[in-house]
Amino acid sequence: MLPPAFFPPTSPEHFTRADFGNSFHWGVSAAAYQTEGAWDKEGKGPSIWDDFVRRKGKIKRGETAEVATDFYYRWTEDILLMQQMGIDNFRFSAAWSRVLPNGISGVNPNGIGFYDRLVDGCLARGIRPWLTLYHWDLPSALQQRGGWTNPDVVGWFTDYAQLLASRLGDRVKHWLVLNEPMAFTGAGHLLGIHAPGRKSLGAFLATTHHAALAQAEGGRALRAILPADAQIGTTFSNSYITPWRPEHLRDQRAARRADALLNRLFVEPALGLGYPVQDVPLLSWIDRYIRPGDLERLPFDFDFLGVQNYTREVVRHAPWVPLLWAGLVSAARRGVPHTDMGWEVYPESIYHALKQFAAYSNVKRLVVTENGSAFPDQVNLAGRLPDLKRQAFLQASLGQVLRAQQEGVPVEGYFAWSFTDNFEWAEGYGPRFGLVHIDYETQRRTIKDSGHWYSRFLGGELA
Ligand code: NOJ
Repeated sequence: MLPPAFFPPTSPEHFTRADFGNSFHWGVSAAAYQTEGAWDKEGKGPSIWDDFVRRKGKIKRGETAEVATDFYYRWTEDILLMQQMGIDNFRFSAAWSRVLPNGISGVNPNGIGFYDRLVDGCLARGIRPWLTLYHWDLPSALQQRGGWTNPDVVGWFTDYAQLLASRLGDRVKHWLVLNEPMAFTGAGHLLGIHAPGRKSLGAFLATTHHAALAQAEGGRALRAILPADAQIGTTFSNSYITPWRPEHLRDQRAARRADALLNRLFVEPALGLGYPVQDVPLLSWIDRYIRPGDLERLPFDFDFLGVQNYTREVVRHAPWVPLLWAGLVSAARRGVPHTDMGWEVYPESIYHALKQFAAYSNVKRLVVTENGSAFPDQVNLAGRLPDLKRQAFLQASLGQVLRAQQEGVPVEGYFAWSFTDNFEWAEGYGPRFGLVHIDYETQRRTIKDSGHWYSRFLGGELA
């Protein structure tokens, strides 16, 4: 049966779970800082996000993630709900400064104990844990030493990776080294809209190189310790990019530059292709941060690559494209439907993202480690959350994943972002991505209709 191609969607009768194959990994994703709360509890050290949210004007409505979804104290409830919904894989991250409060030495027993119990709790409910080492919350103590701009960060990171691998590697089989390095380098060091709030081309290029090194060295550190059957991956953001005026040569060139910067900057060095300097000549300044021997350390043979996709970008020529993002033509300006993030509703983007990764010759397997949409939610009179747009986006996106798979793309998993609503970084609690609604006053969890649909699709007992 043909999958649905476009939004607005289509009925889920077009495909079933079985169409994706029996070994396909179905899951949900989350991240420590966005959910855990307990920011200073039980020995946790501060992270750059704990510091950033305190800076005036950085987060909408001045919100912080001090409590977030209180996952640190409520994780058993969440795991139970996941199990009831028929979700068998859960991707979450460890907060580096919960495990190592000063980033380097001195393990916090409560911190490692928390992840230990969480892993056991997942397994006891038949849920496989997928552990991300780094989802943007660098320990503040390391930021004081220059953070990602300091080449020593690679060693600090690999020590942390080895610590987690040695403590959890007997039970966690799926590992992700970095979450979207393009976001924490670009938004955090060039645009200044994420922690640590730098706005500097030099800082961006230095962090880019160190993150690309940490990506590969982190993979090697895990490989050295984990059992042979462990699966090691890392994640990349990717948005399908098209020129604003397709026939316009300068728009085409701008689109190509934006693609190199936003989609290819981290995956190509990992694959042994180096940085895409040809398409973004300004990137050649990265040379000043490359030390002897570094280039040989950039590639790593990942078992799978995580693809994270939410929308497409339409790009036009602008003098500063792409480094200042000036060439991105917003969905509002184009007058097309968009989510609460201002992102165009364009589920077909995930199909193109998967095709783009599959086109590299040495990619083994792909997993969609994040995909989702933020729309406003309202409880109706019957106490339900009929989030039709989110549900339609999910269905249409799955159709696009299946379309790619049927064309031979080796995609072996799909993780919805996110299990519950959570703290959306600089946007605070405004945009809601969850399949499960959070009432932040009471911390009550309510499954949205999209969550009920996913559960039925997966064959969960709540269906
Ligand atoms: C990607 C990030 O990994 C995640 O933290 C974020 O919440 C989603 N995109 C939505 O913006």
